Amino acid sequence: MNTAETGTIAAILRKPVLLKQDLVAILAATDPADIERIRAAAESTLLEHCGPTVRLRGLIEFSNLCVSDCLYCGIRKNNREVERYTLSDEDIVESARWCATTGYGSVVLQSGERRDRRFIDSLVRNIHAIKDATRSEKLPDGVGITLCVGELARADYERLYQAGAHRYLLRMETSSRELFAALHPPAQSYDSRLACLHMLKDIGFQIGTGVMIGIPGQTIEQLADDLLFFRDLDIDMIGMGPYIPHAQAAMPPDAPLLDVATRMDLAFKMIAGARLLLRNVNIAATTALQALDPVGREKGLRFGANVIMPQVTPLHVRQMYTLYDGKPCLGDTASQCASCLEQRIHSVGRRILHDGWGDSAHYARRHAMNVPAAMQPPAIGPAQPAIPSHGARRVIPLQLKP
Ligand code: 5AD
Repeated sequence: MNTAETGTIAAILRKPVLLKQDLVAILAATDPADIERIRAAAESTLLEHCGPTVRLRGLIEFSNLCVSDCLYCGIRKNNREVERYTLSDEDIVESARWCATTGYGSVVLQSGERRDRRFIDSLVRNIHAIKDATRSEKLPDGVGITLCVGELARADYERLYQAGAHRYLLRMETSSRELFAALHPPAQSYDSRLACLHMLKDIGFQIGTGVMIGIPGQTIEQLADDLLFFRDLDIDMIGMGPYIPHAQAAMPPDAPLLDVATRMDLAFKMIAGARLLLRNVNIAATTALQALDPVGREKGLRFGANVIMPQVTPLHVRQMYTLYDGKPCLGDTASQCASCLEQRIHSVGRRILHDGWGDSAHYARRHAMNVPAAMQPPAIGPAQPAIPSHGARRVIPLQLKP
C-alpha cells in the first residue's frame, strides 16, 4: 500500500472545500483502502444532507424517434437498423398511473429528440393527462414529472413547464468542448446544449445534467472539470454512467476503450466526487451502471447516489430503446422490477421514499433563497404568476428528511 498516497486521500477528504486537484486525486485513486475511504465519506455526506431514502422515478421511454445523431447512441437518427416506435397516449398515461399506484412519486418521460409541433403538442397533452390520472390524497399534485427529451426552443420548454412538468434532465455528456465536438455532428453544438440548460433553469425547472464516464479519449482532468461544471451551473440533479459501446454507433473504430472494471471504478468515484463536492443534489444510480455490473446500481447508492429510475416502459417496446449494448431488465415486467428493486435497496441499508416527489434538497434551498418575484406565491389576493410555480409549491417538501 502506498502510505503517502493514502495519507493524501485521507487529508483531502477532511477538507471543507475540494479543489480541482483534490477531485483529480479522488478520481485517480486506485488503492482499495482509499476507495473505501472515498465511498464512506460520500455515503456519510449523503446521509447528512439528503437522508437515507432512495427516491424513485418510473422511467417511461415513450419514443425512440430521434432527429439527432450523437455518435455514441444506439437510437441516433442514422442508425437504420432500429425499429422505431412511439407509445400511444393510453400506454404512456397507464404507465404513469401504474407508478402512482405502486408508490413511485415521480416519473421520467424520456425519448429521442424531436422538435416538431406535433411532438410538443402530444407531450403537453400527456403531461396534463398524467397529472389528471395520478392526483390522489397521497399525491395532491399528481406524480412529479421529469422530462428528458433533449434540446428544444424556449417557447416549447415554457409550454411543458406550464403543463406541469417540473424537472428536466439534459446531459451535457462532457464539459469539454473538444470532446463534445468529437462525439457529435457539427449541427449539434456545445453552446446550444448549454444555452438550453440555462433556459430551463431560468424558466423554473429543476435541472439535471450529467456526463458519460470513460468516453474514449476522455481524461481524469476532464472528468474533474465535469464535476466543477455541475457546481458552477448550480444544478439540482445528476445522472451519469459509464460509456458503453453500441454495435451500430458511429464512434471512430480505433478509439481506445478503458476496460469495464476501470470504467466502473471511475463511475463510482465520479458519483462520490459529485456527492462530496455538491452535497445536497440528487444523484441517480443509473441503468448503465447495472448494464456493466449486476449490482452496479446498488454500488452507486453506496457511493452517494440517492435516486433510481426503475423501468416501467412497456415490455413490447423496451428492447427498441437501446442506447448502448447490454441494457438490463429487458424481460422484466414493471412489477418484477419493483419488487427486485425494493430488495436491492434494502440490501445496502437504505429505504425507498414512497409517494413523494423526492425533489433534491439542493433545489429546495436554491429555490427558497432565490425565488424570482414572478414565481413567488402572491402575498394577498388570487393573482397567478404568468408561469405557474409548481416548483415553489414544493419549496420544503416534507419528504426531504422523513
Ligand atoms: N453509453 C452510455 N450512455 C449512453 N447514452 C447514450 N448512449 C450511450 C452509450 N453508448 C446516455 C447519454 C444520454 C442518455 C439518455 O443516455 O448520456 O444523454
